[in-house]
Formats: sequence, structure tokens, C-alpha cells
Amino acid sequence: MKRVVCPGSFDPITFGHLDIIERASKMFDEVVIAVLVNKTKRTLFTVAERIEMIREVTTEFPNVKVDSWSGLLVDYCVENQIDFIVKGLRAVTDFDYELQMSQINLQLKGIETLFMSTAPAHSFLSSSIVKEIASYNGDVSNYVPAQLLERLTSRLAQVNGGQN
Ligand code: PNS
Repeated sequence: MKRVVCPGSFDPITFGHLDIIERASKMFDEVVIAVLVNKTKRTLFTVAERIEMIREVTTEFPNVKVDSWSGLLVDYCVENQIDFIVKGLRAVTDFDYELQMSQINLQLKGIETLFMSTAPAHSFLSSSIVKEIASYNGDVSNYVPAQLLERLTSRLAQVNGGQN
């Protein structure tokens, strides 16, 4: 069985992530979306909330499952017998960091990283930009699944003290 992990913060999951997940689900027997800790980011949602949201918007993909991990991605791969990581590349600005990560992950445990080019419609999209727009009451319905919009706006209102 060919399995791949799609790792990230997913704070929250966007149509950009979903595009990569859907395309990977056609290439692999199983895609595991792994919610991991990125030490450089403070998140809006807890890991449990992010998992719940991802599950809600991936029900249509029978070979996609969701998990979380608080250690190194390569250790998750080894523990779960997963040989491949899939990542979306939006632009050259992603490349340096992603290349470094892929080389580290290859050297640490021999895990291969496959890069998929993001669909042009999503090339500018990130969870951070979605949160920025939504925090100013901008419309993010083209970027985030409809089921998550209410949760996103109410959490932002909560953390901004009702001022957003
Ligand atoms: O969505 P993000 O925040 O860009 O995803 C980055 C993530 C979470 C995939 C990356 O930070 C990660 O792999 N974190 C787990 C720890 C790890 O394995 N780091 C890479 C080797 S130092």
C-alpha cells in the first residue's frame, strides 16, 4: 500500500491545502493529513479543533485520514511506515525553506518529499493571509470551505476582544 503524509499547521485548512490533498489522494492508496507543530507559529485553533475542521471538509475522500504529531515529521513517518511526504509549492518564495526541509528529512530518515505545484488559482493563498483578511471582516469564502467560515470569524472576534 502506497501511503503519503501531507503535513502542516492547517490553521485553518484552506482550498489550497485541499487541492493538494485531493490530487495526492488520486496518486496514493492513502493520504494522511498530519497536523504538526510549527514552532515558528502561534495558532488560532488548537490541534483538536484543526483536526475536527479537517475531518469535516475531507469526508468526500475515502482514502484520506487525519492525525496529529508533536515530534519530528520523519519520526511520524517511521512510526507509521510512511515513505513519502507531499508538499504544495506556491512560488519560488516557498522553495528555499521547503528544499531545506526536504533535504533534512531525506538525510535524517531517508523519507522522500514530493512537491506538487499549487493550482494557479491558489498560488497566493495561505492560512495566514486568510486570517489577516478575515480579521478585518474581509470575505474569505473563496479561500476556506463554507463549513469553517463561522468558526473562523467567531474565533477571530473572540481573540480580538470582539473588535474585529
Ligand atoms: O503549514 P506549515 O506551518 O508551513 O507546516 C510546517 C510543518 C509543520 C510541516 C513543519 O514545521 C514541520 O515539519 N514540523 C515538525 C517538526 C519537524 O519535523 N521539523 C523539520 C525538521 S527540523
